[in-house]
Amino acid sequence: MRAIVVRKFGEPMETAEMPVPEPGAGAVQVQLTAAGVNPFDLRMATGYLKNALPHDFPMILGVDGAGTVSAVGPGVTRFEVGDRVVGKFLVPPAGHGSFAEYSVLPEDATLVHIPAKITTLAAAALPTAGVTAQDMVDAAAIRPGQKVLIVGATGGVGSFLVQLSNIAGAHVIATAGPADADQMARLGAAETVDYHRAPVEDSVRFTHPDGVDVLFDLVSAPDALADLTRLVRTGGAVYSTIGSVDEQRLREREIRGGNIESRGAAPELARLLHRVDEGDVVIPVAATVPLSEAASVIGAPGARGKTVLAI
Ligand SMILES: NC(=O)c1ccc[n+]([C@@H]2O[C@H](COP(=O)([O-])OP(=O)(O)OC[C@H]3O[C@@H](n4cnc5c(N)ncnc54)[C@H](OP(=O)(O)O)[C@@H]3O)[C@@H](O)[C@H]2O)c1
Repeated sequence: MRAIVVRKFGEPMETAEMPVPEPGAGAVQVQLTAAGVNPFDLRMATGYLKNALPHDFPMILGVDGAGTVSAVGPGVTRFEVGDRVVGKFLVPPAGHGSFAEYSVLPEDATLVHIPAKITTLAAAALPTAGVTAQDMVDAAAIRPGQKVLIVGATGGVGSFLVQLSNIAGAHVIATAGPADADQMARLGAAETVDYHRAPVEDSVRFTHPDGVDVLFDLVSAPDALADLTRLVRTGGAVYSTIGSVDEQRLREREIRGGNIESRGAAPELARLLHRVDEGDVVIPVAATVPLSEAASVIGAPGARGKTVLAI
C-alpha cells in the first residue's frame, strides 16, 4: 500500500510502498479514504514523542483518518466490515498512522462510527482540532455574554473554537486578516482583529477597555501570551495549546486555565460528531489534496480551516 513515511526522525517525508497491516485480536483494519492534516504531524516526524512512545520505522505519519472497516480481528464486537469510521490513528508503537491506504486500531481506541449525514472526507478533519476545541470550551465553562478572544482563530482548532464558543453564548473576538473576516463571521465571530495591522492587545484594549473574560491562544510564544493575558479580567481564564502559559503567574492574578493537552477520546469525538450531525457545528474543510502531495501541506504555514488528504 502507499503511505507517507519518514525513515528517521527529521528526515524528509516520502511516499513509500508499505505492507498492508493485518488486524490482530480485538483490532480493526480500516481502508482509509481521507486523512486530516495537523501541525502535530510534522512534530511527530521530527521526534516530538520520541521519549514518550516507542516508534516503528519507516514511520507512517498521520493521526486523523476516516474510511471503511475492511477487516476485523477475533473478538471485535463494536465494528463490522463496511462500517464508516473516523478516529485517531496513534497508539503505541507510533508509526502506523493515517497517511496510508490502510491502518489498524484496537476497537477500544479513539474510533467511532460516522453518522450518515457526514461525509467521510469531512469526518477526517474532525478528531484532533475539533476535539481539542471542544475540550477547551468545556474547560473554560463559558457563560452567555462573556467576551472570548481567540488568537490563531483562522486555522484548524480556531475554526472549531469560534463555533463552539459562539454556541456557548460568548461574544467572540477572532484574529483574522481582511480576507478571512467573512469566514470568521460565518462561523460565529462577532468581531475580528487584524493581527497584521497592529498588536492584538492594543486593538482589543481600544474596543474593549474592560478586557475579556476568556483568552484561547493557539499561536503565541510565552512573552506574547503574557502581554495578551493583561487583557483578561480577574476571575477569567486563559488557555494555550502550545505550552505558553506561566500557570504560577496566572494564579497570582486569580485567572483560571493553563496549558491544555487534549485528552479527548472516543466519547468526546462521538459527541462532536453528534453536534455536526445535528447541524450545530460545521466542519471547515478549506483544502483537499491528494495523498501524493502530502509533503507540500504537512507543517505548511498559513492554514485556513482544515486541510484533508484524499487517499
Ligand atoms: N495541546 C494540544 O492538545 C493541541 C491540540 C491541537 C493543536 N495543538 C497545537 O495548537 C496549534 C494550533 O493548531 P491548529 O491545528 O489550529 O494549527 P493551524 O491549522 O496551522 O492554524 C494556525 C492558525 O494561526 C494563524 N496564526 C499564525 N500566527 C498568528 C498570529 N501571530 N496571530 C494570529 N493568528 C496567527 C495561522 O494563519 P497565518 O499563518 O496566515 O497567520 C493559522 O490560520 C498548533 O501549534 C498545534 O500543534 C495542540
